[in-house]
Amino acid sequence: MKVLVTGGAGFIGSNFVYYMLKKHPDYDILCVDCLTYAGNMSTLEEALKNPHFKFFKVNICDRVSIYKIFEEEHPDIVVNFAAESHVDRSIENPEVFLTTNILGTQVMMDACRKYGIKRYHQVSTDEVYGDLPLDRPDLFFTETTPIHTSSPYSSSKAGADLLVLAYHRTYGLPVSVSRCSNNYGPYHFPEKLIPLMIANALNDKPLPVYGEGLNVRDWLYVEDHCKAIDLIIHKGRVGEVYNIGGHNEMRNIDIVKLICKELGKPESLIKHVGDRKGHDMRYAIDPTKIHNELGWLPETKFADGIKKTIKWYLENRKWWEDIISGDYQNYYAKMYNNR
Ligand code: NAD
Ligand code: DAU
Repeated sequence: MKVLVTGGAGFIGSNFVYYMLKKHPDYDILCVDCLTYAGNMSTLEEALKNPHFKFFKVNICDRVSIYKIFEEEHPDIVVNFAAESHVDRSIENPEVFLTTNILGTQVMMDACRKYGIKRYHQVSTDEVYGDLPLDRPDLFFTETTPIHTSSPYSSSKAGADLLVLAYHRTYGLPVSVSRCSNNYGPYHFPEKLIPLMIANALNDKPLPVYGEGLNVRDWLYVEDHCKAIDLIIHKGRVGEVYNIGGHNEMRNIDIVKLICKELGKPESLIKHVGDRKGHDMRYAIDPTKIHNELGWLPETKFADGIKKTIKWYLENRKWWEDIISGDYQNYYAKMYNNR
């Protein structure tokens, strides 16, 4: 079996590459990634030593190069992680989000149609459902919750989801879609809440909490997401959407305080800053469908996952220090100075 993974030099894509190489040692794993600011070859250092792994530095919007890869490699399954993924960046500059997340998805599916495929899987997000109110803890996102997006990022992901389902209905492309909640774990780019707070706390820098920090996210350890996708591409029904989440809702402020505690840093580092525009209040996934149909359940509890994650950032300082020493400084100044 040949599995083509796009966005495999990013956070979840790289974790998926390592998961698949270990779980299916006889599979060939092809990675297509154009290495944006979020893609990092050092993340794939170990994978590159494996003869079952191949890397292509290609943009998913580059139709000619994508078709060439399909013509030469004939992948059986495509898992599309490649995307612009950061909400704050989408608020500053929406265009690249529409280009990569929607048009790139179209190119990947056109290649699947042209060359034939057993399964095209679209990695989507719970953000396509919009948000839930804080005073209704009884409400959860199910697969039939209407699409109701808030940011250019989530709108671009929702556009892609609709296109994927349309390719199934119109052309019979064998697709599936998963919508997962917030992931955390190794190789998470330090622009996102958890790795940013770990890196700043370790450097005794202020911890910028948007608004009051009462927004709730439903956190899932990245390996549990990878397991869910592996199940869906092998056993999930074609044309279906599966929500992925572990009933682990936490307020941002509580996550940041927990990170301070784990690292022995004072909570006085916490600095409340201007809120994100259009900030979603609460995400919460109902994972009943994937549990009932595929037997998936998350395995890593948050208390253990966050410890493992902090340990990883302590043991892999070079990985994130190299990232935050470059262009990231300009990004950080633009987003956080005078906020
Ligand atoms: P990431 O930003 O860490 O990685 C994205 C990767 O895609 C990078 O390696 C980047 O170089 C690559 N990429 C971007 N544009 C590309 C293009 N045009 N062509 C080829 N490669 C390109 O993202 P992530 O957090 O790992 O998210 C992966 C996917 O999972 C995304 O589709 C995202 O919407 C989805 N998702 C993420 C989360 C989360 O909590 N991070 C949760 C649910 C769903
Ligand atoms: O729910 C899935 C989504 O989770 C994915 O689709 C996205 O790709 C991924 O980036 C993530 O989106 P969020 O916007 O929820 O994640 P982020 O880490 O950017 O922010 C988490 C919460 O923390 C959010 O309420 C904003 C807040 N925050 C974030 C940053 C970076 C802060 O308070 N301060 C910060 O500096």
